[in-house]
Amino acid sequence: MLARALILAALAMPAAAQAGARECSDSPGRVLQLCISVDGGRAVYEVSRHGRPVIAPSTVGLAFAGEPAVRWSTLTEARRSSTDTTWEQPWGEQRVIADKHNELKVTLGGDTPYNRRVIVTARVFDDGVGLRYSYPEIPAGKAVEVVGDNTQFRTRGANQAWWYSAWGQERDEYLYTETDARRITTAETPLTLKRDDGLHVSIHEAALIDFPSMLLSGDGAGTLTAKLMPWQDGVLAHKTGPFDTPWRTIVIGDTPGALADSRIELNLNEPNKLGDISWFKPGKYVGVWWEMHLNRSTWGSGEHHGAATANVKSYIDFAAQNGFGSVLVEGWNEGWDGDWIAHGDKFSFTKAYPDFDIAEITAYGRERGVKLIGHHETAGGVPNYAAQLEDAMALYERYGVDVVKTGYVRHSGDIVDEQGGLQWFAGQYMVRHNLHVAEVAARHRIAVNAHEPVKDTGLRRTWPNMISREGARGQEFNAWGDPTNPPEHMTILPFTRLLAGPMDFTPGIFDIPRGGIALTRRVQTTLATQLAEYVVVYSPVQMAADLPENYLAHPDAFQFIKDVPTDWERTRTLQSEIGDYVVVARQERGGQDWYLGAITDENARTLSQPLSFLAPGKRYEAQIYADGADADYRTNPMSYVITRQVVTSADTLPIVMGPGGGLAVRFRALP
Ligand code: NOJ
Ligand code: CA
Repeated sequence: MLARALILAALAMPAAAQAGARECSDSPGRVLQLCISVDGGRAVYEVSRHGRPVIAPSTVGLAFAGEPAVRWSTLTEARRSSTDTTWEQPWGEQRVIADKHNELKVTLGGDTPYNRRVIVTARVFDDGVGLRYSYPEIPAGKAVEVVGDNTQFRTRGANQAWWYSAWGQERDEYLYTETDARRITTAETPLTLKRDDGLHVSIHEAALIDFPSMLLSGDGAGTLTAKLMPWQDGVLAHKTGPFDTPWRTIVIGDTPGALADSRIELNLNEPNKLGDISWFKPGKYVGVWWEMHLNRSTWGSGEHHGAATANVKSYIDFAAQNGFGSVLVEGWNEGWDGDWIAHGDKFSFTKAYPDFDIAEITAYGRERGVKLIGHHETAGGVPNYAAQLEDAMALYERYGVDVVKTGYVRHSGDIVDEQGGLQWFAGQYMVRHNLHVAEVAARHRIAVNAHEPVKDTGLRRTWPNMISREGARGQEFNAWGDPTNPPEHMTILPFTRLLAGPMDFTPGIFDIPRGGIALTRRVQTTLATQLAEYVVVYSPVQMAADLPENYLAHPDAFQFIKDVPTDWERTRTLQSEIGDYVVVARQERGGQDWYLGAITDENARTLSQPLSFLAPGKRYEAQIYADGADADYRTNPMSYVITRQVVTSADTLPIVMGPGGGLAVRFRALP
């Protein structure tokens, strides 16, 4: 049921303010204030928190081809409204989402044709703001070219930043560095900052639709400016007629957890357009996957072909025996032989290799309650994929496949378009493609888990078949990365990439030593951390990524993966320091159990966690999967202990983690 909605009527302010005008809006709890003003030809916004500046006056607006730089002269028609409502996610990290904000809409008057009247809409929440521009002066049907985005984020004070340099060839698959924010050259968003007074700020965008994605470039002095991923001719966006931009968002809180638990990204997206999505069931999957990344089998055809029917059936058996709902199979279709990354235009999305019998496999799965998860690797051959998309989705639909993993393995600026031109992986061209795939998939009742994706901006609210994405250095890097992900990676992701939305990280590697290979060529965590990742990383689809034999070797620890849900009633990020540690608790959706995941960096750490999030007065059996006393990601990653004790919300849980360690707990509600 949709909860109460209270939308206060807009209060029109007829007075036409003139140059020097300024309009402000407080957040509902008077935590944040956002002001927009026009003065001396400039239009700026600024944000303060409890009266202290967070974003100093920063310019707004876009530049269009054929127009000179705009001079702003008026700010008129300030319209205000308030929203206090809740809505329900069909699946998610939190079932019920509160949307409480004050909106301020102003009209800016500039001296160029398209900027003669620009509406700036600001939504001010207690935990952040969103800002978007609308261009009603562009005539209907008129094609325009956006050639600049003047949106600035002028930070105040000394800030630390967690970032990697944008434009790198591996798209968003980089390790983060922590530096003074003034050293940012160009960074991907969400970009997270911590000010020396402890304030945490994350800059990102919401509802990225038919527009290039935004990067942030630094000026060496604390000002960040929007940089949009261009088309090859340098144009940033091609638009026709009046349009709205995505929201530029700033989440602000005292702790990293306040950023992680903010839902303004989702609130700034439009409600569900797909209607009933109950055909998609969140869940866990296994797959013909890690074995290829370990070089034990191949995507391409031949003697070691991973997708061979007999091998797939053995995964289906394993899934059925252990309660997994689906099996991912990669390398099933023609096009993988040879240098597939260079030949994305050769993939067929309907022709299987002869040893992969989709009819037999899906029938075998159906008898055992296990579905096939489809795979479409495009290698960035977008026109080839787009041409086959309808047939490809129809084929999967026919065989009962309702989740498809897509992939765009290709250097970041080398996506080849219909004209043979090169496109950025998250410019307007790919933003359009990304949504087009989701829309075609939705018509076939298929959900999409995109790898090498356009970053998430909360579109899953509007298109809830956009279930998960990669878009960061995932577990695959622990198979072949050089170096692999260091322990601190998992203490940074929750406050950077994961602020954007669900990630298909693919946790759960149990064979950590891998025959004793070098530390920096394998998983750099303890086994308990691999379990904790299922709680720390949110995704409605979570893989148990390792080979079946490695799970069967540790049935006691495997039990946690079998138990942990992927759909949640509520989420609490309890304790954290970015780059050092994180503790997250989530309550299962449709049940009383809680789960907790804690992860530390390369340092051993002991934390104490009050269990006050548990239902008061209720008793729980805490099933604790902890690092052994001698656990250490370098020397003894496989040391773990499993204990049980009865707890209530009045208790405090000691969290003892070894270097690179973690802790996973299931709190099973007792009758
Ligand atoms: C990269 C993806 O992230 C990975 O999961 C997949 O196995 C390969 N591409 C091949 O498609
Ligand atoms: Ca990848």
